[in-house]
Amino acid sequence: MKPKSKILIIAGSDSSGGAGIQADIKTVTALGSYAMTAITAVTTQNTTGVKSIVPINPKEISNQIEFTSKDIRPDAIKIGMLHSTEVIKSVICSLELIKVKKIILDPVMIAKGGAKLIDDKAVKLLKYELIKKVSLITPNIPEAEILTNTRIKTKEDMIFAANILINLGAKNVFIKGGHLDSKIVQDIFVNKKEIMLINNKRITTSNTHGTGCTLSSAISTFFACGKTLKKSCELATIYVNNSIRSNLNYGKGHGPINHLSSISIYNKFK
Ligand SMILES: Nc1ncnc2c1ncn2[C@@H]1O[C@H](COP(=O)(O)OP(=O)(O)OP(=O)(O)O)[C@@H](O)[C@H]1O
Ligand SMILES: [Mg+2]
Repeated sequence: MKPKSKILIIAGSDSSGGAGIQADIKTVTALGSYAMTAITAVTTQNTTGVKSIVPINPKEISNQIEFTSKDIRPDAIKIGMLHSTEVIKSVICSLELIKVKKIILDPVMIAKGGAKLIDDKAVKLLKYELIKKVSLITPNIPEAEILTNTRIKTKEDMIFAANILINLGAKNVFIKGGHLDSKIVQDIFVNKKEIMLINNKRITTSNTHGTGCTLSSAISTFFACGKTLKKSCELATIYVNNSIRSNLNYGKGHGPINHLSSISIYNKFK
């Protein structure tokens, strides 16, 4: 079997393998595509928390993006953790140079254990510059709250926040409902023309490390392979749901999901 598409992942490394660039590579590979990377930071973490974060020099991040894409052109780009204004500026410059159209931005700001991963100035730049330049932004509830200065408790609050992001220039918004305290996990996909709600039964488990990274990489992969953004979001949530359901139970904290759960979704996708 040959890969169906090529994805460039711009994100941080998670030494525990459950989130970040490791989760992204596993997802892209498990869904039958080819993964390339530009590493933005090296984190030392395990399932119980983040121990340290070492940022990579912005110039070096740009080098990775530009030199890699010049040789093997990505069909889509997934962006994860960008921790500072300098990094965001470099990434914007590189994206303008390489001109790839399909870009998914997961605006990672807070790790599941509560550690803040990005500074306030960077949040502003992301909100007022970067979100206009991507195809889709995929905040979780706390990230959507920070980006829109609202409190989100209900589905209506999620739609309201998504529309604020659309008015700021985002083309498509997917707000993930994992953080709301409800029996049904509700995600929403919003653009100027439509609203799609995706409902799934909440799986009772603490092993949800990396669900967000996995979701955005899965969306990027399906999108790169020619599915519409809306369909890519639907397929990606099925993949994440199956991966949580496998409940690997590795580690003493928030354990990883099972990226190898792709077989059933892969058959459907064919
Ligand atoms: N307990 C759960 N049961 C079912 N689906 C879940 C559960 N938790 C999260 N999800 C799904 O996982 C996806 C990611 O959502 P989540 O809100 O966890 O993202 P996130 O907070 O960015 O994750 P991360 O911790 O990786 O950053 C969404 O599609 C969400 O519906
Ligand atoms: Mg996340």
